[in-house]
Amino acid sequence: MIVFCVFLVLCYDLVQAQFPRVCVTEEALKNKSCCPLWTDLSPCGFSSGRGICRDQIVPVLGASGHLPQYNDDRLSWPKYYFNHACECHGNYSGYGCGDCKYGHFGEKCDRKITIVRKEIRELSLLERKRFFSYLALAKITKSPDFVILYTGDRHHKDTYRFVDAAIYDVFSWIHYYSTKPILKNGTFDDSTNYAHQGPAFPGWHRLGLLFLERQIQLMTGDENFALPYWDWRGEKKCSICTNAFLGDNDVEGFLSQYSHFAFWKSICSGYNYDDSYCLAADDFNQLERLHRKPGANPHARSPPTFQDVEDTLKLEHFDRPPYNRKAQNSFRNALEGFLNPKDGITLQTTMHNLVHNFLGGTMGEVPISSNDPMFLLHHCFIDKIYEKWLHKYNASSDVYPENDQPGQGPNECATPYFPCYTNKQLLQKSDAFGYKYSIYQGL
Ligand SMILES: *[C@@H]1O[C@H](CO)[C@@H](O)[C@H](O)[C@H]1NC(C)=O
Ligand SMILES: *[C@@H]1O[C@H](CO)[C@@H](O)[C@H](O)[C@H]1NC(C)=O
Ligand SMILES: *[C@@H]1O[C@H](CO)[C@@H](O)[C@H](O)[C@H]1NC(C)=O
Repeated sequence: MIVFCVFLVLCYDLVQAQFPRVCVTEEALKNKSCCPLWTDLSPCGFSSGRGICRDQIVPVLGASGHLPQYNDDRLSWPKYYFNHACECHGNYSGYGCGDCKYGHFGEKCDRKITIVRKEIRELSLLERKRFFSYLALAKITKSPDFVILYTGDRHHKDTYRFVDAAIYDVFSWIHYYSTKPILKNGTFDDSTNYAHQGPAFPGWHRLGLLFLERQIQLMTGDENFALPYWDWRGEKKCSICTNAFLGDNDVEGFLSQYSHFAFWKSICSGYNYDDSYCLAADDFNQLERLHRKPGANPHARSPPTFQDVEDTLKLEHFDRPPYNRKAQNSFRNALEGFLNPKDGITLQTTMHNLVHNFLGGTMGEVPISSNDPMFLLHHCFIDKIYEKWLHKYNASSDVYPENDQPGQGPNECATPYFPCYTNKQLLQKSDAFGYKYSIYQGL
Protein backbone atom coordinates (compact mmCIF):
# COMPACT_ATOMS: atom_id res chain seq x y z
CA MET A 1 0.00 0.00 0.00
CA ILE A 2 2.87 2.35 0.82
CA VAL A 3 4.10 1.95 -2.71
CA PHE A 4 0.71 2.87 -4.03
CA CYS A 5 0.52 6.02 -1.91
CA VAL A 6 3.98 7.14 -2.91
CA PHE A 7 2.92 6.74 -6.49
CA LEU A 8 -0.11 8.90 -5.87
CA VAL A 9 1.92 11.60 -4.19
CA LEU A 10 4.36 11.63 -7.06
CA CYS A 11 1.54 11.94 -9.50
CA TYR A 12 0.16 14.86 -7.60
CA ASP A 13 3.54 16.48 -7.49
CA LEU A 14 3.69 16.27 -11.23
CA VAL A 15 0.39 17.87 -11.29
CA GLN A 16 -0.28 21.32 -11.32
CA ALA A 17 -8.90 23.05 -14.51
CA GLN A 18 -11.44 23.10 -16.65
CA PHE A 19 -9.15 25.48 -18.28
CA PRO A 20 -7.51 24.17 -21.43
CA ARG A 21 -3.84 23.79 -20.63
CA VAL A 22 -2.78 25.50 -23.86
CA CYS A 23 -4.94 28.54 -23.05
CA VAL A 24 -3.47 29.46 -19.68
CA THR A 25 -0.22 30.83 -21.00
CA GLU A 26 0.49 34.41 -20.03
CA GLU A 27 -0.04 35.54 -23.60
CA ALA A 28 -3.36 33.72 -24.08
CA LEU A 29 -4.71 35.06 -20.78
CA LYS A 30 -3.56 38.58 -21.60
CA ASN A 31 -5.21 38.35 -25.03
CA LYS A 32 -8.23 36.62 -23.48
CA SER A 33 -7.91 34.28 -26.36
CA CYS A 34 -8.39 30.52 -26.48
CA CYS A 35 -7.97 29.66 -30.14
CA PRO A 36 -5.25 26.99 -30.13
CA LEU A 37 -3.40 25.98 -33.26
CA TRP A 38 -4.47 22.65 -34.78
CA THR A 39 -1.87 20.39 -36.38
CA ASP A 40 -2.26 22.43 -39.57
CA LEU A 41 -0.89 25.36 -37.53
CA SER A 42 -4.04 27.44 -37.98
CA PRO A 43 -6.17 28.59 -35.02
CA CYS A 44 -9.10 26.20 -34.39
CA GLY A 45 -8.00 24.12 -37.41
CA PHE A 46 -9.38 26.80 -39.73
CA SER A 47 -7.26 25.71 -42.72
CA SER A 48 -8.58 22.15 -42.37
CA GLY A 49 -12.18 23.29 -42.19
CA ARG A 50 -12.57 22.33 -38.53
CA GLY A 51 -13.56 25.67 -37.04
CA ILE A 52 -13.00 29.37 -36.69
CA CYS A 53 -11.74 31.72 -33.98
CA ARG A 54 -14.58 34.07 -33.01
CA ASP A 55 -14.75 37.24 -30.97
CA GLN A 56 -17.23 37.53 -28.16
CA ILE A 57 -18.35 33.98 -28.52
CA VAL A 58 -19.77 34.32 -25.05
CA PRO A 59 -23.46 35.12 -25.12
CA VAL A 60 -24.58 38.31 -23.44
CA LEU A 61 -26.51 38.04 -20.21
CA GLY A 62 -30.08 36.95 -20.60
CA ALA A 63 -33.01 38.42 -18.74
CA SER A 64 -31.01 38.78 -15.56
CA GLY A 65 -29.27 41.96 -16.70
CA HIS A 66 -27.73 42.47 -13.25
CA LEU A 67 -24.21 42.67 -14.57
CA PRO A 68 -23.03 45.84 -12.78
CA GLN A 69 -23.83 44.58 -9.30
CA TYR A 70 -21.97 41.32 -9.71
CA ASN A 71 -18.30 40.93 -10.07
CA ASP A 72 -17.87 37.25 -9.83
CA ASP A 73 -15.20 35.84 -12.11
CA ARG A 74 -17.55 33.13 -13.35
CA LEU A 75 -20.38 35.40 -14.40
CA SER A 76 -21.03 35.39 -18.16
CA TRP A 77 -18.62 32.49 -18.23
CA PRO A 78 -15.91 32.37 -19.61
CA LYS A 79 -15.82 36.08 -20.42
CA TYR A 80 -13.61 37.06 -17.51
CA TYR A 81 -10.90 34.73 -18.80
CA PHE A 82 -11.54 34.45 -22.52
CA ASN A 83 -13.52 36.38 -25.08
CA HIS A 84 -12.08 34.83 -28.22
CA ALA A 85 -12.76 31.13 -28.61
CA CYS A 86 -13.20 28.49 -31.27
CA GLU A 87 -16.51 27.87 -32.97
CA CYS A 88 -16.37 24.41 -34.52
CA HIS A 89 -18.04 23.27 -37.73
CA GLY A 90 -20.06 20.11 -38.35
CA ASN A 91 -19.25 17.30 -35.95
CA TYR A 92 -16.03 18.86 -34.68
CA SER A 93 -15.90 20.06 -31.12
CA GLY A 94 -13.65 20.71 -28.13
CA TYR A 95 -11.89 23.90 -27.09
CA GLY A 96 -9.65 23.78 -30.17
CA CYS A 97 -11.99 21.88 -32.57
CA GLY A 98 -9.51 19.00 -32.32
CA ASP A 99 -12.13 16.74 -30.77
CA CYS A 100 -15.53 15.45 -31.87
CA LYS A 101 -19.01 16.21 -30.60
CA TYR A 102 -20.28 13.80 -27.97
CA GLY A 103 -21.21 10.51 -29.60
CA HIS A 104 -18.93 11.09 -32.60
CA PHE A 105 -15.60 9.48 -33.29
CA GLY A 106 -12.90 9.19 -35.91
CA GLU A 107 -10.50 11.51 -37.68
CA LYS A 108 -13.38 13.30 -39.41
CA CYS A 109 -15.81 12.77 -36.55
CA ASP A 110 -18.27 11.11 -38.93
CA ARG A 111 -18.59 7.83 -37.05
CA LYS A 112 -21.53 7.87 -34.63
CA ILE A 113 -21.63 5.52 -31.66
CA THR A 114 -24.55 5.32 -29.25
CA ILE A 115 -23.49 3.80 -25.97
CA VAL A 116 -25.84 2.31 -23.40
CA ARG A 117 -25.56 3.27 -19.75
CA LYS A 118 -26.61 0.33 -17.58
CA GLU A 119 -27.55 -0.19 -13.96
CA ILE A 120 -24.38 -1.19 -12.12
CA ARG A 121 -25.94 -4.52 -11.11
CA GLU A 122 -26.60 -5.29 -14.79
CA LEU A 123 -22.89 -5.17 -15.62
CA SER A 124 -21.03 -8.44 -16.03
CA LEU A 125 -18.22 -9.06 -13.54
CA LEU A 126 -15.73 -8.12 -16.25
CA GLU A 127 -17.56 -4.89 -17.09
CA ARG A 128 -17.74 -3.96 -13.44
CA LYS A 129 -14.04 -4.60 -12.88
CA ARG A 130 -13.27 -2.56 -15.97
CA PHE A 131 -15.29 0.33 -14.57
CA PHE A 132 -13.38 0.29 -11.28
CA SER A 133 -10.03 -0.01 -13.07
CA TYR A 134 -10.82 2.92 -15.34
CA LEU A 135 -11.77 5.05 -12.34
CA ALA A 136 -8.56 4.09 -10.55
CA LEU A 137 -6.64 5.15 -13.64
CA ALA A 138 -8.60 8.40 -13.98
CA LYS A 139 -7.72 9.23 -10.36
CA ILE A 140 -3.96 8.98 -10.97
CA THR A 141 -3.63 10.10 -14.59
CA LYS A 142 -2.78 13.71 -15.13
CA SER A 143 -5.33 15.40 -17.39
CA PRO A 144 -3.56 15.99 -20.69
CA ASP A 145 -5.89 18.80 -21.74
CA PHE A 146 -7.13 20.61 -18.67
CA VAL A 147 -5.72 22.35 -15.62
CA ILE A 148 -7.57 23.71 -12.59
CA LEU A 149 -7.57 27.11 -11.00
CA TYR A 150 -5.79 27.54 -7.70
CA THR A 151 -5.65 30.87 -6.00
CA GLY A 152 -4.74 32.52 -2.76
CA ASP A 153 -7.06 35.50 -3.07
CA ARG A 154 -10.20 35.63 -5.17
CA HIS A 155 -10.11 39.39 -5.37
CA HIS A 156 -6.73 39.54 -6.97
CA LYS A 157 -6.37 38.06 -10.38
CA ASP A 158 -2.59 38.22 -10.20
CA THR A 159 -2.57 35.58 -7.46
CA TYR A 160 -4.21 32.99 -9.71
CA ARG A 161 -2.29 29.91 -10.59
CA PHE A 162 -3.29 27.10 -12.85
CA VAL A 163 -2.23 23.69 -11.65
CA ASP A 164 -2.31 20.13 -12.96
CA ALA A 165 -4.86 17.65 -11.71
CA ALA A 166 -5.83 14.05 -12.38
CA ILE A 167 -8.65 13.46 -14.87
CA TYR A 168 -11.11 12.49 -12.12
CA ASP A 169 -10.10 15.49 -10.04
CA VAL A 170 -10.68 17.90 -12.92
CA PHE A 171 -14.24 16.56 -13.03
CA SER A 172 -14.56 16.92 -9.28
CA TRP A 173 -13.15 20.41 -9.35
CA ILE A 174 -15.62 21.59 -12.03
CA HIS A 175 -18.48 20.80 -9.65
CA TYR A 176 -16.67 22.32 -6.69
CA TYR A 177 -15.90 25.53 -8.57
CA SER A 178 -19.53 25.91 -9.72
CA THR A 179 -20.73 25.82 -6.11
CA LYS A 180 -18.41 28.47 -4.67
CA PRO A 181 -20.47 31.40 -3.34
CA ILE A 182 -21.06 34.11 -5.90
CA LEU A 183 -19.27 37.39 -5.43
CA LYS A 184 -21.74 40.26 -5.77
CA ASN A 185 -20.47 43.77 -5.46
CA GLY A 186 -17.76 42.72 -3.02
CA THR A 187 -19.73 40.32 -0.81
CA PHE A 188 -20.30 36.59 -1.16
CA ASP A 189 -23.78 35.22 -1.73
CA ASP A 190 -24.10 31.51 -1.06
CA SER A 191 -27.85 31.35 -1.52
CA THR A 192 -27.42 30.40 -5.16
CA ASN A 193 -24.86 28.88 -7.50
CA TYR A 194 -24.29 27.97 -11.11
CA ALA A 195 -25.21 24.28 -11.04
CA HIS A 196 -28.06 24.03 -8.53
CA GLN A 197 -31.32 25.59 -7.42
CA GLY A 198 -32.38 26.60 -10.89
CA PRO A 199 -33.25 25.37 -14.38
CA ALA A 200 -29.60 24.63 -15.23
CA PHE A 201 -29.50 21.76 -12.73
CA PRO A 202 -30.37 18.76 -14.98
CA GLY A 203 -28.35 19.90 -18.01
CA TRP A 204 -25.36 21.04 -15.97
CA HIS A 205 -24.97 17.61 -14.43
CA ARG A 206 -25.62 15.88 -17.76
CA LEU A 207 -22.68 17.77 -19.21
CA GLY A 208 -20.42 16.83 -16.30
CA LEU A 209 -21.13 13.14 -16.78
CA LEU A 210 -20.53 13.43 -20.53
CA PHE A 211 -17.26 15.19 -19.88
CA LEU A 212 -15.88 12.52 -17.57
CA GLU A 213 -17.20 9.66 -19.71
CA ARG A 214 -15.48 11.12 -22.75
CA GLN A 215 -12.24 11.75 -20.88
CA ILE A 216 -12.23 8.10 -19.81
CA GLN A 217 -12.94 6.98 -23.39
CA LEU A 218 -10.01 9.05 -24.61
CA MET A 219 -7.70 7.89 -21.81
CA THR A 220 -8.39 4.19 -22.39
CA GLY A 221 -9.18 4.14 -26.12
CA ASP A 222 -12.41 2.34 -25.19
CA GLU A 223 -15.03 4.17 -27.25
CA ASN A 224 -17.81 1.99 -25.86
CA PHE A 225 -17.22 2.87 -22.25
CA ALA A 226 -20.43 4.02 -20.58
CA LEU A 227 -20.94 5.21 -17.02
CA PRO A 228 -23.25 2.99 -14.95
CA TYR A 229 -26.13 4.23 -12.80
CA TRP A 230 -27.62 3.24 -9.46
CA ASP A 231 -31.37 2.80 -9.44
CA TRP A 232 -32.03 3.52 -5.76
CA ARG A 233 -35.82 3.35 -5.96
CA GLY A 234 -37.35 1.60 -3.02
CA GLU A 235 -34.07 0.70 -1.31
CA LYS A 236 -34.15 0.52 2.46
CA LYS A 237 -30.38 0.70 2.81
CA CYS A 238 -27.60 1.14 0.29
CA SER A 239 -27.42 -2.20 -1.52
CA ILE A 240 -24.36 -1.20 -3.54
CA CYS A 241 -22.38 -0.09 -0.47
CA THR A 242 -20.49 -3.39 -0.40
CA ASN A 243 -16.86 -3.96 -1.27
CA ALA A 244 -17.78 -5.71 -4.53
CA PHE A 245 -19.48 -2.49 -5.59
CA LEU A 246 -19.03 1.06 -4.23
CA GLY A 247 -17.66 0.07 -0.84
CA ASP A 248 -18.65 -0.61 2.73
CA ASN A 249 -17.77 1.84 5.51
CA ASP A 250 -16.69 1.64 9.15
CA VAL A 251 -18.57 3.19 12.09
CA GLU A 252 -16.79 6.49 11.61
CA GLY A 253 -17.91 6.49 7.98
CA PHE A 254 -14.54 5.90 6.34
CA LEU A 255 -14.63 3.48 3.43
CA SER A 256 -13.49 -0.06 4.16
CA GLN A 257 -9.82 -0.63 3.47
CA TYR A 258 -10.86 -3.54 1.24
CA SER A 259 -13.02 -1.35 -0.98
CA HIS A 260 -12.11 0.11 -4.37
CA PHE A 261 -11.98 3.72 -3.20
CA ALA A 262 -10.53 3.15 0.25
CA PHE A 263 -7.59 5.44 -0.31
CA TRP A 264 -9.17 8.07 -2.49
CA LYS A 265 -8.87 11.56 -1.14
CA SER A 266 -11.05 14.57 -1.86
CA ILE A 267 -9.41 17.26 -3.88
CA CYS A 268 -10.70 20.62 -2.67
CA SER A 269 -11.93 19.38 0.67
CA GLY A 270 -11.15 22.84 1.93
CA TYR A 271 -14.54 24.26 1.01
CA ASN A 272 -14.55 26.25 4.19
CA TYR A 273 -11.36 28.02 3.31
CA ASP A 274 -12.91 31.12 1.83
CA ASP A 275 -9.88 32.30 0.02
CA SER A 276 -9.00 29.23 -1.95
CA TYR A 277 -10.62 27.63 -4.93
CA CYS A 278 -8.90 24.48 -3.97
CA LEU A 279 -6.33 23.26 -1.49
CA ALA A 280 -5.16 21.06 -4.28
CA ALA A 281 -2.25 18.79 -4.41
CA ASP A 282 0.35 20.75 -2.50
CA ASP A 283 -1.02 19.39 0.73
CA PHE A 284 -2.03 16.00 -0.49
CA ASN A 285 -1.50 14.38 2.89
CA GLN A 286 -3.90 16.77 4.53
CA LEU A 287 -6.75 16.05 2.17
CA GLU A 288 -9.51 13.95 3.66
CA ARG A 289 -10.50 10.41 2.71
CA LEU A 290 -13.93 9.65 1.30
CA HIS A 291 -16.57 8.85 3.86
CA ARG A 292 -20.23 7.79 3.89
CA LYS A 293 -22.85 6.91 6.45
CA PRO A 294 -25.85 5.56 4.58
CA GLY A 295 -29.07 5.80 6.57
CA ALA A 296 -27.48 7.56 9.56
CA ASN A 297 -29.23 10.88 8.97
CA PRO A 298 -32.56 10.77 10.87
CA HIS A 299 -34.11 13.03 8.22
CA ALA A 300 -33.02 10.79 5.35
CA ARG A 301 -33.34 7.19 6.46
CA SER A 302 -33.92 5.76 2.99
CA PRO A 303 -33.84 6.80 -0.68
CA PRO A 304 -36.96 7.89 -2.59
CA THR A 305 -39.57 5.31 -3.56
CA PHE A 306 -40.81 4.00 -6.92
CA GLN A 307 -43.87 6.18 -6.42
CA ASP A 308 -41.74 9.32 -5.84
CA VAL A 309 -40.10 8.85 -9.24
CA GLU A 310 -43.44 8.22 -10.91
CA ASP A 311 -44.90 11.35 -9.30
CA THR A 312 -41.89 13.44 -10.36
CA LEU A 313 -42.45 12.37 -13.96
CA LYS A 314 -46.07 13.52 -13.73
CA LEU A 315 -44.97 17.15 -13.40
CA GLU A 316 -45.22 18.44 -16.94
CA HIS A 317 -43.67 21.90 -16.54
CA PHE A 318 -39.91 21.78 -16.86
CA ASP A 319 -39.53 24.62 -14.35
CA ARG A 320 -41.71 27.36 -12.90
CA PRO A 321 -41.18 30.86 -11.47
CA PRO A 322 -39.33 31.86 -9.36
CA TYR A 323 -36.99 29.22 -10.91
CA ASN A 324 -35.18 28.53 -7.66
CA ARG A 325 -35.56 26.18 -4.70
CA LYS A 326 -39.04 27.58 -4.06
CA ALA A 327 -40.53 26.71 -7.45
CA GLN A 328 -43.79 24.73 -7.28
CA ASN A 329 -45.26 22.41 -9.91
CA SER A 330 -41.76 22.28 -11.33
CA PHE A 331 -40.32 19.01 -12.63
CA ARG A 332 -36.82 20.40 -12.13
CA ASN A 333 -37.41 21.40 -8.53
CA ALA A 334 -38.96 18.03 -7.64
CA LEU A 335 -36.15 16.13 -9.41
CA GLU A 336 -33.53 18.26 -7.70
CA GLY A 337 -35.30 17.53 -4.44
CA PHE A 338 -36.68 20.72 -2.94
CA LEU A 339 -40.30 19.86 -3.69
CA ASN A 340 -42.66 17.05 -2.75
CA PRO A 341 -43.34 15.35 -6.10
CA LYS A 342 -46.73 14.05 -4.99
CA ASP A 343 -48.50 17.37 -4.46
CA GLY A 344 -46.03 19.58 -6.35
CA ILE A 345 -46.59 22.24 -3.66
CA THR A 346 -44.91 21.32 -0.39
CA LEU A 347 -41.29 22.37 -0.13
CA GLN A 348 -39.38 19.51 1.47
CA THR A 349 -36.26 17.39 0.91
CA THR A 350 -36.87 14.68 -1.65
CA MET A 351 -35.40 12.92 -4.73
CA HIS A 352 -31.84 14.03 -5.65
CA ASN A 353 -31.20 15.92 -2.41
CA LEU A 354 -32.60 13.10 -0.31
CA VAL A 355 -30.12 10.60 -1.79
CA HIS A 356 -27.20 12.91 -1.02
CA ASN A 357 -28.42 13.27 2.57
CA PHE A 358 -29.15 9.56 2.87
CA LEU A 359 -25.57 8.66 1.90
CA GLY A 360 -24.07 11.40 4.08
CA GLY A 361 -20.35 11.97 4.51
CA THR A 362 -18.64 13.25 1.39
CA MET A 363 -21.84 12.86 -0.65
CA GLY A 364 -23.73 14.85 1.97
CA GLU A 365 -21.77 18.04 1.35
CA VAL A 366 -22.71 19.50 -2.03
CA PRO A 367 -19.40 21.21 -2.91
CA ILE A 368 -17.24 18.13 -2.35
CA SER A 369 -19.79 15.41 -3.17
CA SER A 370 -18.35 14.85 -6.64
CA ASN A 371 -15.19 13.41 -5.08
CA ASP A 372 -17.08 10.21 -4.26
CA PRO A 373 -17.70 8.08 -7.40
CA MET A 374 -21.12 7.38 -5.87
CA PHE A 375 -21.89 10.84 -7.30
CA LEU A 376 -21.54 9.44 -10.82
CA LEU A 377 -23.95 6.60 -10.21
CA HIS A 378 -26.48 8.78 -8.44
CA HIS A 379 -26.36 11.52 -11.07
CA CYS A 380 -26.57 9.04 -13.91
CA PHE A 381 -29.85 7.84 -12.44
CA ILE A 382 -31.07 11.43 -12.00
CA ASP A 383 -30.11 11.96 -15.65
CA LYS A 384 -32.06 8.84 -16.62
CA ILE A 385 -35.19 10.27 -14.97
CA TYR A 386 -34.55 13.57 -16.80
CA GLU A 387 -34.27 11.60 -20.04
CA LYS A 388 -37.58 9.82 -19.32
CA TRP A 389 -39.20 13.21 -18.79
CA LEU A 390 -37.78 14.60 -22.08
CA HIS A 391 -39.33 11.67 -23.94
CA LYS A 392 -42.60 11.69 -22.06
CA TYR A 393 -43.29 15.34 -22.97
CA ASN A 394 -41.29 15.31 -26.20
CA ALA A 395 -39.48 18.36 -24.83
CA SER A 396 -36.75 20.38 -26.48
CA SER A 397 -34.64 23.49 -25.92
CA ASP A 398 -37.56 25.90 -26.34
CA VAL A 399 -39.02 24.99 -22.93
CA TYR A 400 -35.88 26.21 -21.18
CA PRO A 401 -37.08 29.37 -19.37
CA GLU A 402 -35.66 32.85 -19.10
CA ASN A 403 -34.79 33.35 -15.45
CA ASP A 404 -32.79 35.44 -12.97
CA GLN A 405 -30.39 32.85 -11.58
CA PRO A 406 -26.82 33.90 -12.35
CA GLY A 407 -25.33 31.77 -15.11
CA GLN A 408 -28.60 29.90 -15.64
CA GLY A 409 -30.12 31.88 -18.50
CA PRO A 410 -31.01 29.86 -21.63
CA ASN A 411 -28.17 31.34 -23.66
CA GLU A 412 -25.54 31.45 -20.96
CA CYS A 413 -22.80 28.85 -20.89
CA ALA A 414 -23.04 26.05 -18.33
CA THR A 415 -20.44 27.29 -15.83
CA PRO A 416 -17.45 26.56 -15.70
CA TYR A 417 -17.28 24.20 -18.67
CA PHE A 418 -15.09 24.93 -21.61
CA PRO A 419 -15.90 25.00 -24.48
CA CYS A 420 -19.28 26.64 -24.00
CA TYR A 421 -22.50 24.64 -24.02
CA THR A 422 -25.52 26.86 -23.48
CA ASN A 423 -27.97 25.78 -20.83
CA LYS A 424 -30.81 25.39 -23.32
CA GLN A 425 -28.65 23.26 -25.62
CA LEU A 426 -28.49 20.73 -22.80
CA LEU A 427 -32.24 20.40 -22.77
CA GLN A 428 -32.54 17.83 -25.53
CA LYS A 429 -32.77 14.07 -25.70
CA SER A 430 -29.65 12.03 -25.04
CA ASP A 431 -29.35 10.54 -28.55
CA ALA A 432 -28.01 13.99 -29.52
CA PHE A 433 -25.12 13.24 -27.17
CA GLY A 434 -24.55 9.63 -28.20
CA TYR A 435 -25.96 7.65 -25.31
CA LYS A 436 -29.09 6.06 -23.95
CA TYR A 437 -30.20 4.16 -20.87
CA SER A 438 -31.03 0.52 -20.35
CA ILE A 439 -34.50 -0.36 -19.11
CA TYR A 440 -34.28 -1.58 -15.53
CA GLN A 441 -37.08 -2.47 -13.14
CA GLY A 442 -39.65 -1.12 -15.57
CA LEU A 443 -38.09 2.34 -15.99
C1 LIG B 1 -2.35 37.72 -29.01
O1 LIG B 1 -2.69 38.83 -29.80
C2 LIG B 1 -1.69 39.19 -30.75
C3 LIG B 1 -2.13 40.48 -31.41
O2 LIG B 1 -3.48 40.45 -31.79
C4 LIG B 1 -1.51 38.05 -31.75
O3 LIG B 1 -0.51 38.36 -32.66
C5 LIG B 1 -1.12 36.80 -30.98
O4 LIG B 1 -1.05 35.71 -31.86
C6 LIG B 1 -2.13 36.51 -29.89
N1 LIG B 1 -1.65 35.40 -29.11
C7 LIG B 1 -2.42 34.39 -28.72
C8 LIG B 1 -1.77 33.34 -27.91
O5 LIG B 1 -3.61 34.31 -29.00
C1 LIG C 1 -21.76 48.30 -4.25
O1 LIG C 1 -21.04 48.57 -3.09
C2 LIG C 1 -20.71 49.94 -2.91
C3 LIG C 1 -19.88 50.12 -1.66
O2 LIG C 1 -19.35 48.92 -1.23
C4 LIG C 1 -21.99 50.75 -2.80
O3 LIG C 1 -21.69 52.14 -2.69
C5 LIG C 1 -22.84 50.51 -4.04
O4 LIG C 1 -24.11 51.17 -3.90
C6 LIG C 1 -23.08 49.04 -4.25
N1 LIG C 1 -23.78 48.84 -5.51
C7 LIG C 1 -24.88 48.09 -5.63
C8 LIG C 1 -25.48 48.02 -7.01
O5 LIG C 1 -25.39 47.49 -4.70
C1 LIG D 1 -21.62 14.03 -38.75
O1 LIG D 1 -21.83 12.72 -38.30
C2 LIG D 1 -22.91 12.04 -38.92
C3 LIG D 1 -23.07 10.74 -38.21
O2 LIG D 1 -23.72 11.01 -37.00
C4 LIG D 1 -22.59 11.87 -40.41
O3 LIG D 1 -23.69 11.21 -41.04
C5 LIG D 1 -22.39 13.23 -41.02
O4 LIG D 1 -21.98 13.09 -42.35
C6 LIG D 1 -21.31 14.00 -40.25
N1 LIG D 1 -21.27 15.37 -40.75
C7 LIG D 1 -20.17 15.91 -41.22
C8 LIG D 1 -20.27 17.32 -41.71
O5 LIG D 1 -19.11 15.30 -41.24
